[in-house]
Amino acid sequence: MTRLAGKTALITGAARGIGLAFARAYVAEGARVAIADIDIERAHASAAEIGDAAIAVKMDLSDQSSIEAAVAETVGALGKIDILINNAAIFTAAPIVDITRADYERVFQINVAGALFTLQAVAKHMIARGQGGRIINMASQAGRRGEALVGVYCASKAAIISLTQSAGLNLIEHGINVNSIAPGVVDGEHWDGVDAFFAKYENKAPGQKKREVGEAVPFGRMGTAEDLTGMAIFLASAEAEYIVAQTYNVDGGNWMS
Ligand SMILES: NC(=O)c1ccc[n+]([C@@H]2O[C@H](COP(=O)([O-])OP(=O)(O)OC[C@H]3O[C@@H](n4cnc5c(N)ncnc54)[C@H](O)[C@@H]3O)[C@@H](O)[C@H]2O)c1
Repeated sequence: MTRLAGKTALITGAARGIGLAFARAYVAEGARVAIADIDIERAHASAAEIGDAAIAVKMDLSDQSSIEAAVAETVGALGKIDILINNAAIFTAAPIVDITRADYERVFQINVAGALFTLQAVAKHMIARGQGGRIINMASQAGRRGEALVGVYCASKAAIISLTQSAGLNLIEHGINVNSIAPGVVDGEHWDGVDAFFAKYENKAPGQKKREVGEAVPFGRMGTAEDLTGMAIFLASAEAEYIVAQTYNVDGGNWMS
């Protein structure tokens, strides 16, 4: 398929997991992609596995100069950025009384400020180019509803949904569509970490939380990264031109809104 032929995409946190699945899917649709990640060795390995249509770019979302350098490097290497997927994020969990300011600041620095200022840097490039663009933020079902032990991460994802609305409304005059995807529970290394948090705080055996959340999904299982690629391609495609400032649940039926 070539729904993204001629397009270029910057995908943050694409060395592994959902971002890597997006990179593979975009290349299969004819795009060239920059795999931007703090884990540059893994980004290089992932880009090499995809082939000539992918490059690896070092990027630390907690550092403004690194964000700007990564955007500039991507434009230099690929010539332009048509699509940004603001995908990188970190997870944390703790009861409210155990949340530390340092952990809160670390998560908001990466998940919220990192996403906002990457969006800003790419939007400036898109506006200067004058040919519009697509920005897809990764929200979560965690942004739709708070969770007892996940206050900081949930708040960071609610912020993404809100910023998608504001940026979507502000940037559409430049032909830049900003939308979000809200996954539910997606199997992979990220959820291995989540499972370990719940093993600690809910006294569960390793793997138990994963089994429970999978069984609770109306579809009948946890999601896979590949379950999300259809929406990521659609939101970047010509068919989605009239979609502005929305967040789409792709979660097997976990959340309705
Ligand atoms: N996995 C799930 O169940 C799930 C559910 C809902 C939403 N999401 C969201 O989807 C997105 C991708 O999730 P995933 O499961 O693939 O996560 P993941 O942890 O597997 O991958 C995240 C990537 O981001 C990179 N990264 C971390 N900190 C960074 C930084 N400071 N700068 C640049 N890169 C950094 C990591 O190196 C890693 O490659 C995230 O925004 C996540 O919140 C995931």
